[in-house]
Amino acid sequence: MIIDGSKCKLVGKIKVPGDKSISHRAVILGSIAKGLTVIENILISEDVIKTIDAFKNMGVNIEIMDEKVLIKGVGIHGLKKPNTPIYCGNSGTTMRLLSGLLVGQKFSSILTGDDSLVKRPMDRIIIPLSKMGANIKGVKNKYPPLSIKPTNILTSICYKMPVASAQVKSSILLATLYAKGTTKIIENKITRDHTERMLKLFGANIRCKGNEILMDSENELYGKKLYIPGDISSAAYFIVAALLIKGSHIIIEDVGINPTRAGILSILKKMGGNIIVFNEREINCEPIGDIEVKYSKLRGITIEEDEIGKLIDEVPIIAVAATLAEGRTIIKGVNELKYKESNRIKTITEGLSNMGAYIKILPDRMIIEGVQELKPAFLNSYDDHRIAMALSIAALTAKGSSHINKSECINISYPEFYTTLFKLLQ
Ligand code: S3P
Repeated sequence: MIIDGSKCKLVGKIKVPGDKSISHRAVILGSIAKGLTVIENILISEDVIKTIDAFKNMGVNIEIMDEKVLIKGVGIHGLKKPNTPIYCGNSGTTMRLLSGLLVGQKFSSILTGDDSLVKRPMDRIIIPLSKMGANIKGVKNKYPPLSIKPTNILTSICYKMPVASAQVKSSILLATLYAKGTTKIIENKITRDHTERMLKLFGANIRCKGNEILMDSENELYGKKLYIPGDISSAAYFIVAALLIKGSHIIIEDVGINPTRAGILSILKKMGGNIIVFNEREINCEPIGDIEVKYSKLRGITIEEDEIGKLIDEVPIIAVAATLAEGRTIIKGVNELKYKESNRIKTITEGLSNMGAYIKILPDRMIIEGVQELKPAFLNSYDDHRIAMALSIAALTAKGSSHINKSECINISYPEFYTTLFKLLQ
């Protein structure tokens, strides 16, 4: 993709597609619930399609009609042995959440993925699931493909999370559906709680108190009619673009603003961003609102490690904002970024540095000194959708043409990204 950053501003009202994390969970719970689940505003992107295909492969009837998906749930014991290994593509969420579900089945299964996913660590789920009695193995006990075999008995665990990860937490909760007793998960840092909210909505016996989650086994789930809020991670690119480009004024409607997820909003406000959230309401246990953003002069801040779990996927676009803010921004606790679709500490730093940004990487933190402007460059997305989109916004602020290679990777989470971006440009 070639982005010409000369003389433009973002103006208008848009919606962003349904939240990726919530879309995955809706397909998973809808498939194992009893009865019909209808999902509106679901994200249809490569990652979510992998989850849908996995359940079709296990005998679930799923019909896609525009942005609506109809699922005839088979109940928690109704899945069938897949005919082939389950191919999760680039999707860590598909692999980690499905592993939790599959360890409780009476059939064996294999989960595999693309070149990026097979290099991502799975010991973080293998360890707790094995503690529950699961029979799950990976290459060197760490990497995909994962091989899962039925086990005689799955038991609940008390698990103190060693890494802040909603995928790991969700994997354990899905396994708990098939385990004896009550599972307790203790989180050291807050991560997105979409699984907890949706399990409750579908009828599971789950309680959350502070940083502890308790869930009983023997749950039966019941199909629901759901509306998926717009994805704050997708909205984030336009929010930052509007803040950085003079004269911009946009409104993004119906965006998920779950406090365990929308950390970017308070961070950008702290940086001086003119952001107003209004029309706040709740749909299917998830907070949702409209977001108004106007061009603002940003200043550097320190982002503490505790805040990272609430904005983990937004660090690359926050880094873009920081490069053009006045002064220094320190982002602490960034280690987990190494294990995403690419090593995002490296890939975003390389791209922005090529554009003239000044970024220093120290163990577990990034230090970004604001500069007056970025210059156009040839930029490598490393096939990582969030890097491609973050660098596209950086390129928009630079006078001249930038080239972002392999930008089609945006299809992982946001196939209409460029269409919506170009619609906003004036
Ligand atoms: C996700 C959780 C996060 C996030 C990922 C989606 C989820 O990963 O980075 O894009 O849907 O649960 P971790 O759980 O590894 O932090």
